[in-house]
Amino acid sequence: MGLRPVLRMGDPRLLVPADPVREFGTAALAELLADMHATMLALDGAGLAAPQIGVPLQVVIFGFERNVRYPDAEAVPETVLINPLLTPESEELEDGWEGCLSVPGMRGLVHRYRRIRYLGRDAAGNELDRSVGGFHARVVQHEVDHLHGILYPMRIRDLRNFGFTAEIAPGSPAD
Ligand code: NI
Repeated sequence: MGLRPVLRMGDPRLLVPADPVREFGTAALAELLADMHATMLALDGAGLAAPQIGVPLQVVIFGFERNVRYPDAEAVPETVLINPLLTPESEELEDGWEGCLSVPGMRGLVHRYRRIRYLGRDAAGNELDRSVGGFHARVVQHEVDHLHGILYPMRIRDLRNFGFTAEIAPGSPAD
């Protein structure tokens, strides 16, 4: 299929918890991942969750060498993460600006755990187990939130730190 429309905040499908994937290595899963990848790249996304294209499964992808929407972010390995489980590695939190392809043109300041461990599976069903920090940890927390029906604006603690990208970060690509 290729590019898929990304649902925007307000669409009730973004609020529904996603179901686990039960079968790996299937043509349907490969097609979903190919569509997600094409869609994420076309929109310069740092990550994408399956519910954002209307598929209620616990599938996220993320990663980039460089990302025009987050020019200051360090590289994050390109990853397929299915049926994820996150645990914080400490209680330490960090503020950072986030955007979302489902909330185009906006940015908000969000508290996230600085370091997390994540478990899950890749497209073939192999186990993933990583301990990460920084922007990598932020992206994973953001994407996995989508699988629980949570969009980042719900996590902004002070809504004065929520606004249009063009006002908050002039000169950055308007998404
Ligand atoms: Ni998002």
